[in-house]
Amino acid sequence: MGVDAKGSASGTGVRVLDPIVAQQVAAGEVVDRPASVVKELVENALDAGASRVEVELGDGGATHILVRDDGSGMALEDAALSVLRHATSKIRTAKDLETVGTLGFRGEALPSIASVSSFCLTTSTGEGSGTKVVVDGGGEAEVSPASHPKGTSILVDRLFYNVPARRAFLKGARAERAAIVEALTHLAVAHPSVAFRLSEAGREYLSLPAAKDLMERLAQVHGVAKARAMRRVEYESGAFAVSGYAALPSVTEGSRGSQTVSVNGRWVRADGLTRGIDDAYRATLPSGRYPPVALDVRVDPRRVDVNVHPTKQIVRFSEERAARDAVAAAVREAIEWRPSAPLAAPRPAERPFTQERFSPSWSPPAGSSGRVAERRPDYALQPRDLVEARERLHEASRPPEDAGGRQPAEAFAEPPERGALPSSDEARVIGQLAAGYILVEEPGSLWVVDQHVAHERVILDRLTDAEEGFLPTTQALLVPEVVELSPGEAESAAEYLEELAVYGFEAERFGPSSFRITAVISTLAGRDVAGAFKEALAAAKGTGPGRRREDHILATIACHSAVKLGDKLSQPEMEALVKSWLGSRLPATCPHGRSICYHIGVNEVARKLDRR
Ligand SMILES: Nc1ncnc2c1ncn2[C@@H]1O[C@H](COP(=O)(O)OP(=O)(O)OP(=O)(O)O)[C@@H](O)[C@H]1O
Ligand SMILES: [Mg+2]
Repeated sequence: MGVDAKGSASGTGVRVLDPIVAQQVAAGEVVDRPASVVKELVENALDAGASRVEVELGDGGATHILVRDDGSGMALEDAALSVLRHATSKIRTAKDLETVGTLGFRGEALPSIASVSSFCLTTSTGEGSGTKVVVDGGGEAEVSPASHPKGTSILVDRLFYNVPARRAFLKGARAERAAIVEALTHLAVAHPSVAFRLSEAGREYLSLPAAKDLMERLAQVHGVAKARAMRRVEYESGAFAVSGYAALPSVTEGSRGSQTVSVNGRWVRADGLTRGIDDAYRATLPSGRYPPVALDVRVDPRRVDVNVHPTKQIVRFSEERAARDAVAAAVREAIEWRPSAPLAAPRPAERPFTQERFSPSWSPPAGSSGRVAERRPDYALQPRDLVEARERLHEASRPPEDAGGRQPAEAFAEPPERGALPSSDEARVIGQLAAGYILVEEPGSLWVVDQHVAHERVILDRLTDAEEGFLPTTQALLVPEVVELSPGEAESAAEYLEELAVYGFEAERFGPSSFRITAVISTLAGRDVAGAFKEALAAAKGTGPGRRREDHILATIACHSAVKLGDKLSQPEMEALVKSWLGSRLPATCPHGRSICYHIGVNEVARKLDRR
């Protein structure tokens, strides 16, 4: 059967494609939308060692994409070759593929892009004159001298102008631009030390100066508050080392857009690894929510195949399951609560709020004035006495399984810690909302803090901190508080009076079914003494002896000691409260699992006011 020069066999419809058409078909695998062009060009810039990459768009990339870098640039011969198929400086032999350390290696991206656009590359190594290479729709390359600073600029005009079917698939400018922002953000997270900028028509969509480390880059990308809720990941197991950051489950987004995963520095879309992330957060998240994550998986390049797909975004591990498990374990370890969470505010040596609270400048909120006696140290039990009394009580009531004796500090450990917090250094109280919420400003955001829950946290910390000898003293009430109980309650109350004394309640029978309370733990003085007494009694009755009972009683005391919604606080009171709250052991966790604060970014404010 004869085959003519054009590859057409007589009698059949089978033909060898014209090289330009073949290139356009192949290009479909590498570039399917403007975002993939940007990804390829930016990866080339990163491979060339750029410290700054700028991207300019026209119409979401459909009419115009310009990527400029300050990398190595190319000499004339290299520039001319770079647009030819299978021309690459990055590998020489198939064996090199096994250990490839660059992002590109297929020698396909530039020819593919140049075959479906009006393409112009200008480059210079910084020595001698620069070079310009122009290719229109995959035709002959025109090479000419041109001036350019060290580095490379690539202009891609009218993408897919000669492939109408592909062009028809482009979404609107906004959607294409969003895809570009997302891709560039992932690349920026995977390469924190490089500066990135994305703009269109004079408007800046991304502006990321070179960051000193990944945390700084995450703060640039997600905002300081979200970045602060991210925990360091540092994990090694078998063939895999996983590092980066993972957000606490309280901080989530509606898509995976803020989850960046790279393998040996290459940003990838690897299902197996994403599933590992999901495994780690399973049961802590509502479905469809994704916490920001930035992870790099290091593995011997021989154990991962990066040449599975033309976009090089899909990778295959020789041990897929082990890779997924390593990611899951790494994230899980990072987000699990640890007493010394690295970003927790440092504990202040003293307790400023509680001191303030009982100093002369503290005026008890309305309704409780006049009930607090002067402190009478002679009457008050010394802290040690209460600590010792409680220890004795434990000894007597310790159930066998509790014999190991947990430290009080662990009694309220409620892992995992829930959310982001203002920074104690930069937080500034700016006012109170509806006598219930403290407004705290820090650069770029506003925090709304539930004053009752925050104060409860502080007090509970203090009550459970017996180890340090900070247990509050008892304080005599100037006017004893009389509590009316039902006859049944009164009967059992008598039984528990001795135990309640350990928690500072000095009470005596005052009538057939009432009790008179003459002293309480000092945090409770001037607060809801009767309520605390009744609930502490119920807690004592309702819980078996041991730590759980103590936890319960102390939580009751903390709750009734804390300022309430509706208590107007002065500026110094709010400042002291916020300071000691942020210095407490678990500032993000309310004893009952409720939220303590939430955050409003200045961007959100600007958006509401139509400024963006
Ligand atoms: N911004 C740039 N700065 C310096 N050299 C570049 C730049 N862009 C491309 N090159 C050179 O041109 C060659 C071809 O680039 P191209 O992206 O087509 O292939 P690649 O990066 O080698 O492989 P891949 O197709 O996997 O991306 C590169 O190997 C590199 O030597
Ligand atoms: Mg490339």
